[in-house]
Amino acid sequence: MTYIVKDECIKCKLTDCVEVCPVDCFYEGENFLAINPDECIDCGVCEPECPLDAIKSDNDDSLEDKDKWLLLNKKFSAIWPNITKKKAPMSEHEKYRNIKNKFEKHFSEKPGK
Ligand code: SF4
Ligand code: F3S
Repeated sequence: MTYIVKDECIKCKLTDCVEVCPVDCFYEGENFLAINPDECIDCGVCEPECPLDAIKSDNDDSLEDKDKWLLLNKKFSAIWPNITKKKAPMSEHEKYRNIKNKFEKHFSEKPGK
């Protein structure tokens, strides 16, 4: 079991979640964060920190596209840099926070800086 970051995070990247993780298992892409499923200890403290409700347990069977998001978190957390401190959200986060299904149009595979 692990927690996973989902579509809502894309183009927002508010980073409230990273501050609370006791094992620092968030990794930063250009416009998304990924959790490393092998490092996550399933404590659940990050879930309520995200104002966009982008973080869920992979134990939640009601989650749409659960397997897809689990694979994406696994793949990109292995190649993106680690992030442990909150930083400014993305400049257009207010515009993108209510847009659904951002993955196909907006997801970037590039690492964060
Ligand atoms: Fe970190 Fe806990 Fe969230 Fe896993 S569930 S990413 S260990 S804060
Ligand atoms: Fe993304 Fe929410 Fe964290 S928008 S960076 S999962 S606080």
